[in-house]
Amino acid sequence: MCGIIGYIGKRDALPILLEGLRCMEYRGYDSAGVAVISKNAVTCVRAKGRVALLKEKCLTETLEGAVGIGHTRWATHGEPNERNAHPQRDCMGDVFIAHNGIIENHQPLKDHLIKKGHKFLSETDTEVISHLIEEYDKKEKDFPKAVRLALKDFHGAFGIVVLSRKHPGVLVAARFGSPLILGIGKEEYVVASDANAVLPVTNRVIYLNDGDMATLSGSAYEISDFRNGGGTQKRKKTTIEWTSSAAELGGYPHFMLKEIMGQPQSLRDTMRGRLLSHEGTVKFGGLEPFEKRMRALQHITLAAMGTASFTCLIGEYAIEELAGIPAKREIGSEFAFRSSTVNAESALLAVSQSGETADTLNAIREAKRRGALTLGIVNVVGSTMAREVDGGIYNHVGPEIAVASTKATTSQALLQIMLALYLGRLRGMVSRSEGQAIVAEMQRLPKHVEKILKSKERIKVLAKKYKKCEDFFLLGRKYNVSAALEGALKLKECAYAHAEGCSTTELKHGPISLIVPNLPSIVVVPRDALYEKNKSSVEELKARKGPVIAITTEGNKELEKIADAVLYIPKTLEMLTPILAIIPMQLLAYYLAVERGNDVDKPRNLAKSVTVE
Ligand code: F6R
Repeated sequence: MCGIIGYIGKRDALPILLEGLRCMEYRGYDSAGVAVISKNAVTCVRAKGRVALLKEKCLTETLEGAVGIGHTRWATHGEPNERNAHPQRDCMGDVFIAHNGIIENHQPLKDHLIKKGHKFLSETDTEVISHLIEEYDKKEKDFPKAVRLALKDFHGAFGIVVLSRKHPGVLVAARFGSPLILGIGKEEYVVASDANAVLPVTNRVIYLNDGDMATLSGSAYEISDFRNGGGTQKRKKTTIEWTSSAAELGGYPHFMLKEIMGQPQSLRDTMRGRLLSHEGTVKFGGLEPFEKRMRALQHITLAAMGTASFTCLIGEYAIEELAGIPAKREIGSEFAFRSSTVNAESALLAVSQSGETADTLNAIREAKRRGALTLGIVNVVGSTMAREVDGGIYNHVGPEIAVASTKATTSQALLQIMLALYLGRLRGMVSRSEGQAIVAEMQRLPKHVEKILKSKERIKVLAKKYKKCEDFFLLGRKYNVSAALEGALKLKECAYAHAEGCSTTELKHGPISLIVPNLPSIVVVPRDALYEKNKSSVEELKARKGPVIAITTEGNKELEKIADAVLYIPKTLEMLTPILAIIPMQLLAYYLAVERGNDVDKPRNLAKSVTVE
C-alpha cells in the first residue's frame, strides 16, 4: 500500500525514481510524485493518476540532481488529488517526505503544530511528519537527529524517506510496520518499499527491521534504532537472486495473463527439490528445527487475508485429512479477537504472497504472545512475515506483479497440501505408499495445468457471451468451496462484477431465489464422491432457467446435456482439484475484465500489498 523510494548517489535521481515507482505501482496508483534536490532548491512534481502521467509532467520541469524521493499512492487520508499526493512538505518547503502507512495520532499532533503556527496544505496524515521534523530541525542542527526525535512521537505504521533542502547531502529513511529495503551500490544508495524498485540500481540489499533508521550520504550509510537513542545497528547484507526482467511483460498484454499462463512453471518451482518420491513425503528445510514440536501439535490455525485465506480452506481440509490435526482457517484480522485455544501445543500457519499484510502479521504476533509455533507460507523473500515466523516456506514463484493474485494462489494451495502430507508422514498418519501416490499426483499437476490453459480461447468466447451479466454465482463443495470463493473474488476485483462464491448446497438455503436467466453460475462438478449431488444442483439451477458453466473432469460428457457450457480439467486427487478448477475461473475473470475495458493489472481502488489494518 503506497510505494516509496529514495536515491542518493552520483547519478541523476529522476530516472531511477520514476523507474522504481513504475515497478511499485501495483502498491497503489491513484497519484504519484517526486522531489529532487538540485543546487539549493527542491523541485517537487506531483500528479493525480498513474506514474506515466507523472513522468510526462516531469518532462516540463527541471529536475536535475542526485538526491531525490518518490511516491506512488493508495489513498488513506484525503481523496486522491494532487494536493494530497506525496511528497508532502513542511511550511518552508525545506523538508519533503514520502510515506507508506498510517500515522494514527496525526490529529493531536496536527492540532499542536497548528497552535505553533504551522500551516497545513493537505488532508493527509503524512503532512504532520514533515512539519514535526521542521519543528525539531529548528532546535537541532543535526537533520537525522531531528527526524529521529519526530519519529518517536508517532503511533501507527510507517515507512518514510525524507530529504531537506537545508541538508542536501543526506537522505533519511526509517521503518516501523511498513517494509523498506536499502540497496547498497557503489557510492550510491537506493531505498524502497519493494526489492524490484531497488534492482535497477543494485542487487546488494539490507532488509530494514522495525525501528531502523538509515542515514544515507553519497558515500556512506548508517543504520540506527530511532527508538533508543540512535545507537548504530549492524544488519546483514543479502544478494537478490532474481533480476528486474522478472517484472517485465515478456510479450503478454497484461501481467495477469502472463502469470496465469506461467502456472505450470510456478507450480514446478514450488515443488522443486521438495518432493521425496521414494519416501512419499516432502522436505521443507525451514521446518526441520521444529520437527519435535510438530509431531506433538494439537491444533493448527491457518491465518491469511483475501485470496490467501481462501487457499487456507484447502489447507484446513488437507491437514485434517492427511495429518489428523484439527485445523481451522481464521481471517487474519479477526484472529486476535477470539479467545481461541491457541497455545504452546498449537501452530499458526500464516499464508501471504507479500509477507507484509498487516492483518496477517498481527495474527502471527498474537499467536506468538500465546506461545504457539508460528509457520509461514510466503512468496516475497526477506519480507517482514518471512523474518518473523519461526519456520518459513517460500513459494519460489518469483515476483507477482498483477494486483489480482493467480500464480501465488495456486502455489499457496499446493504448499498447504504438501505441508499436510509432510505432517501426515511425520506423525505416521500416511503410509509410505499412500505418500508416494500423492507425490506422484502432485508431480503431474504442471502438465494438467498446461492442458487446461489450452482451453483459453473457449473461455474467451464465454467471456464475450456473458460480458453484460452483472451478477454471478460460483459454486463448489468440500475442497472446491475454496475455488468458488476465489473465483468470485477474481470476478469482483478484475471484472467489477458482483459475484458470490459458496458451497453448492448452501444455494438452496436462500441464495437460489436470486437465480434468473441472466445470472450465470459457474459450478465445479468433478467426477468424485460428491458428483451425483453436485450434478443435482446443476439440474436445480437449470430448472430455474439459470445459465450454468460447469467445470468437470475430462471424459465426463454427461454434463454437456444439462449445462450451457462445460470446461474440462484432468482427473486428479480430490484435494488437488481446486488447484486445477481455479484456472478456468482466473481466465474467465481475465477475459471478462478485458471485454469490459477494465485496467486488468491495476483494478480500481485496490493495492496489492495491504499494509494497513
Ligand atoms: C486478491 C488478492 C488479495 C490478497 C490479500 C492478501 O487477488 O491478491 O486478496 O490475497 O490481500 O495478500 P497477501 O497474500 O500479500 O498477504
